[in-house]
Amino acid sequence: MIRILMVCLGNICRSPLAHGILDSKLDGNYFNVDSAGTSNYHKGSPPDLCSIAVVRKNGIDITNQRARQFKIKDFETFDYIYVMDESNFENVVKMARNVEDISKVRLILNEIHPNKNLEVPDPYYGGDSGFDDVYNMLDEACNLITNRLAR
Ligand code: 4NP
Repeated sequence: MIRILMVCLGNICRSPLAHGILDSKLDGNYFNVDSAGTSNYHKGSPPDLCSIAVVRKNGIDITNQRARQFKIKDFETFDYIYVMDESNFENVVKMARNVEDISKVRLILNEIHPNKNLEVPDPYYGGDSGFDDVYNMLDEACNLITNRLAR
């Protein structure tokens, strides 16, 4: 089993999308996908209604997800930890115990634009189009992750 964790700040907007999108592309017999937030602001909450709506347009249901906070144990559980922005990266790496932990952490848009360190914008404070844009960039990144993992 290969385990992949998607991480953002609140675990209600971006990482639930990445979680649902990647999960829909991978065989659950071989891959496990989860998500978490670096904060505990929304612990136990379902994803933002705009996140639920934008994936539903694409046939994916994420209503069963519940927000949780990233924890040190996640470094042991997961093989790959994809973060949405630089601040998530710093917050996760701060909790790393060793270089192996750090080596698991990647900015998700570096899958599409290697070494550019681009960030997935936080749509939390924006309108609906923000969620469509975020959906599209995460879908593209998840296609590349899927291709890489399938090899
Ligand atoms: P996310 O968006 O990190 O993509 O889930 C946010 C959701 C909530 C907050 C910040 C970002 N918040 O401050 O409550």
